[in-house]
Amino acid sequence: MKVKDVFYLDKITSTQILAKEFINYKRNLLIIANEQTGGYGRYQRNWYSPVGGLYFSFLLNLTEKEILSIFDIIFFIIKNIVISCEEIFGLKRKLQIKWPNDIYYRDRKLSGILAEKYNLSLIFGCGINLNNDKFPKEITNAISLKEILKREISSYEKFLLTEIILEKINSEKIVKEELLNFLKERNYLKNKRVKILLSPQKEIVGTCLDIDEDYSLVLKEGIKIFSGEVEKVYL
Ligand code: BTN
Repeated sequence: MKVKDVFYLDKITSTQILAKEFINYKRNLLIIANEQTGGYGRYQRNWYSPVGGLYFSFLLNLTEKEILSIFDIIFFIIKNIVISCEEIFGLKRKLQIKWPNDIYYRDRKLSGILAEKYNLSLIFGCGINLNNDKFPKEITNAISLKEILKREISSYEKFLLTEIILEKINSEKIVKEELLNFLKERNYLKNKRVKILLSPQKEIVGTCLDIDEDYSLVLKEGIKIFSGEVEKVYL
């Protein structure tokens, strides 16, 4: 799973949509944009993507064997994004993962991740708030690196961040035990009371205990959640 081709674009509808166009060419690539006009997130929500943020998608063509452990790959990429941000911006152990795939600083969202699977291809998209610190009023819990560090993020740092993420993904190995330990340690939801939307008609309230070996969220009530949307966290 080596990614050698990197496309830098200025303004684009969505890096996810462009990545999709390349699926048939069976190449692994990284598409990075300065601005998106039609960025989207989980559950087809809009992803506010003005200049100042970082928006990218990996297109990974996986083998039959790799696709069976697609969650290892998704969480491996998330881990490397977290570590890269922490390394570059001096935020060691300050970032957390809100299951399944948001990156949090304290109680606010710094980054959103969207993983889409098409047969043997994975399109992994990530948006990180760097200098974009004015959010529309409906986005109430977002934070940017600029706000965390109380200074502008330079274009050099933005470039370095993508380079380091790419370098780690190309060189690090997936060690499941390490990966799980990392996720357990950085589990933002641990011991928090949460309301999870399982389907449009079904929701559940419980207290988060841990993340399991199969990446499911385990509640103290003895329930395992494999997929869902954490709708509310009771702080
Ligand atoms: C979420 O929080 O729901 C996930 C947001 C994912 C946004 C990224 S930005 C780069 C890529 N292109 C998109 O249109 N979406 C993802």
